[in-house]
Amino acid sequence: MRVFIIGASGLVGNNCMQYLRKNAQCEVVGSHYSFATIDTEYFNVFNPEAATFDLDAFRPEVIVHTGALTHVDYCETHPEESYHNTVESTAAVLDLARKYGALLVYISSDYVFDGRNGPYAEEDPVNPLSVYGRHKLQAEDLIRAAAPAHLILRVTNVYGDEMRGKNFVAFLIREARKQEEKILRLPSDQFATPVNAYDIGRACSLLIRDGKRGLYHLSAGEYFSRVQLAEKVLHYFPDIRLRIRALPTKKLNQDAPRPLKGGLKNDKFLAEFPEFRFSTIDDYMREKHGI
Ligand SMILES: NC(=O)c1ccc[n+]([C@@H]2O[C@H](COP(=O)([O-])OP(=O)(O)OC[C@H]3O[C@@H](n4cnc5c(N)ncnc54)[C@H](OP(=O)(O)O)[C@@H]3O)[C@@H](O)[C@H]2O)c1
Repeated sequence: MRVFIIGASGLVGNNCMQYLRKNAQCEVVGSHYSFATIDTEYFNVFNPEAATFDLDAFRPEVIVHTGALTHVDYCETHPEESYHNTVESTAAVLDLARKYGALLVYISSDYVFDGRNGPYAEEDPVNPLSVYGRHKLQAEDLIRAAAPAHLILRVTNVYGDEMRGKNFVAFLIREARKQEEKILRLPSDQFATPVNAYDIGRACSLLIRDGKRGLYHLSAGEYFSRVQLAEKVLHYFPDIRLRIRALPTKKLNQDAPRPLKGGLKNDKFLAEFPEFRFSTIDDYMREKHGI
């Protein structure tokens, strides 16, 4: 199966590419936009002709679209840029999926919910609070309305191996290793369900293999506040001088409103793939640190 991953220089896309290349019978091309890597091709969703490889010759059977403007607070203050990079980019990818008759896999977020009573199941009503959340939902709606063969995978609090180490867990590990005295101000009331990006790749591979369609929530089932997640990671570094200052969200002055009780239930996915085991934060830390 020929799979084209848009955004393979990023956290989710790169992990999907690594897994699909290693573990499945797939021919995979992954792309970067501004961050070139040794095993990705340049591709801009708004100018496919400028790509450094021949997409027409490749003729993808599956297109995984991970590209979006992902900085939630930046999106809040730059809504037009957010719309362009999240909604219009998805419209452009839809055109490609139509052109090649490809299955479109779109990565979405629990920010489509308002966080009053998460974690959420697939059938729960949406009500985004932020520009980012609204644009992720608009992109989902575009795909549903156009109705090509598609999978929408909602995730949140993604962590894992990442070249740029932008994710929260990677940030904590990096800060811990610096051995500096520092205070991290973190929200005590923002809850979500972390998921390892590699597990998104594993789950995505199974969903594609079995011809699944529609909406799936992917999460490991662990439910942590940001503070609890940080404590869980930092307890692997007992000698550090990094301290956590737990604060309510309203004291953090973040530009974008956050779903407080966010997160995603994985029951639908696990009912269809009962053998699947999501890795936990502890699994990841033990694997990383050999504990
Ligand atoms: N990370 C999370 O916790 C999380 C949570 C919920 C949902 N999501 C969703 O998951 C998806 C992936 O997130 P991520 O954390 O992996 O993001 P990321 O690391 O920022 O990756 C985004 C990727 O999209 C590429 N891209 C950006 N603009 C592009 C364009 N015009 N044309 C082609 N590619 C473009 C980027 O390329 P360059 O970097 O090379 O410029 C990068 O490879 C996003 O849709 C995000 O909304 C993520």
